[in-house]
Amino acid sequence: MESVFLRAWSTHVDDGLVSLFVMCILFLMTVSLLVYRHRESLECLSPRDGKSLPPGNNGLPFLGETHLLASQKDDFFRKRRTQFGAIFRTHLFGCPAVRVTGEANIKQLIQMEGHQLRSFYPVSVRRLLGDNSIATSSGPHHRERKRHLTQYLSRVFFQDHVSLFSGVVSQHLLKWNKQEVIDIYPACKALSAEVASRFLLDMELSPSQLDEIRSLLSEFTDNLFCFPVYFPGTSYYKAYNAKKRLLTIIENISKTQRPGNKQTSVLTETLQPTTDLHASQTQLEMLESLFELLFVGADNNGSGMFAIVNFLARHPEVVNKIHVELEEAGLLGGAVGDHAHEDLTLEQVRGLSYIRAVVKEAMRLMPPVGGFYRTVTEAFTINDFYIPKGWRVIAGIRETHEHDPSLTDPLRFDPDRWLSKDIKPAFLAFGGGSRVCPGKEYADILLRVFVINLMRTWSVDIVKDSSITMFPGVRPKDKMTVSLTRT
Ligand code: HEM
Repeated sequence: MESVFLRAWSTHVDDGLVSLFVMCILFLMTVSLLVYRHRESLECLSPRDGKSLPPGNNGLPFLGETHLLASQKDDFFRKRRTQFGAIFRTHLFGCPAVRVTGEANIKQLIQMEGHQLRSFYPVSVRRLLGDNSIATSSGPHHRERKRHLTQYLSRVFFQDHVSLFSGVVSQHLLKWNKQEVIDIYPACKALSAEVASRFLLDMELSPSQLDEIRSLLSEFTDNLFCFPVYFPGTSYYKAYNAKKRLLTIIENISKTQRPGNKQTSVLTETLQPTTDLHASQTQLEMLESLFELLFVGADNNGSGMFAIVNFLARHPEVVNKIHVELEEAGLLGGAVGDHAHEDLTLEQVRGLSYIRAVVKEAMRLMPPVGGFYRTVTEAFTINDFYIPKGWRVIAGIRETHEHDPSLTDPLRFDPDRWLSKDIKPAFLAFGGGSRVCPGKEYADILLRVFVINLMRTWSVDIVKDSSITMFPGVRPKDKMTVSLTRT
């Protein structure tokens, strides 16, 4: 009779053999799939219709050049542009890709949106932003959603909100002034998060609500680009739960809103029963749309403010010119903490052409969104290079500005170039076409209000400065601290 021990042992051996067999099969299937995909991407290297692929490297098998992008960040694209030219190929995140720079080339890509190209975001971003996001949707759903929300982000709507922007900015500047040195990147993010929360959600949010929203937004942004695994402790888990809590906060705020005031938040407006948006959107869709605007708005406007402080702190000659413009407009000075800042009007803001130029020049040289991603849905030719279906396209906004052939010294921070009628610098900081940034008016006005309030009372001095890296989802590694002095 077979002993219990032997039976257990043979079952164990059988189980072990089966597991080994299954593992071998899985291993072989994975290797075959990877070899197939790699061969597929290499096959694309042969010329088509007399057109060759752009120059560049395919990198290591399977890994491509992803590890180099991770270590070199912005320099990855800059170095390759110097080596290969305005259009070059690489291999990132398991897929062949082409980096396209140059104003005319990017404008061609913009025209192809929805035809040969479709917007692309990593899986974690797509899942975390959700089905109702403008950025990740496409086709009629995208058009409809964007049309609805754009009405609240138009210049006309801001007429009544300039004083809100100005009030929040001056309160934060007073807080900054109380600190000996300011860690400027998080300070700008906190300021833009408060403006976004009050403008989009509720003018009357309490300090504790604002604090919670700010920290949830930062938790979401810091963990957005990640491996999409929902498990306690993972980045995905943190971002998912931060968003869930923010949606609950937005929903609770929506229950207390009373439409009717002149100066209302976007949330209050969307609650009006007569609006198109209200009629066509479910509650979840509306909450998710507002969440997207809140997160994108706070993040990009914060980076925009950081870029501006960065340049003003390095260019005293520009600060002097701003002071002259403000003095001529009767806007220089004012007692610290007075409320004159809140009386700014949209006309005054728009009348300050040098400040407009300062904001444009800062966005040109340090654009908060350095590029955008697309998937090729139909092969096309650009500048005589063949780009196969299935590839990723990465449009390089930053290098396009940095290598603008219409400027003699494109890397110099020079706001005056925006005042000359003869020069037309390339400017793609807000994208274009059907994917153009719907928050561009909001960002432009807020950033100008920021410069006005900062410069009418203060000058900025750099206390500690290290190299600054602006890369999606990654905070600048090293601190830049500044101090404010009264003008
Ligand atoms: C300085 C500030 C900002 C910059 C530089 C900026 C830049 C951009 C760029 C370049 C795009 C196009 C991306 C693409 O083509 O894939 C974009 C899209 C977008 N932006 Fe902004 N943005 C800023 C502020 C804002 C603000 C304040 C909001 C919201 C209130 C916002 C909401 C969006 C949304 C929802 C999209 C997706 C549009 C679509 O896919 O159709 N942005 N932004």
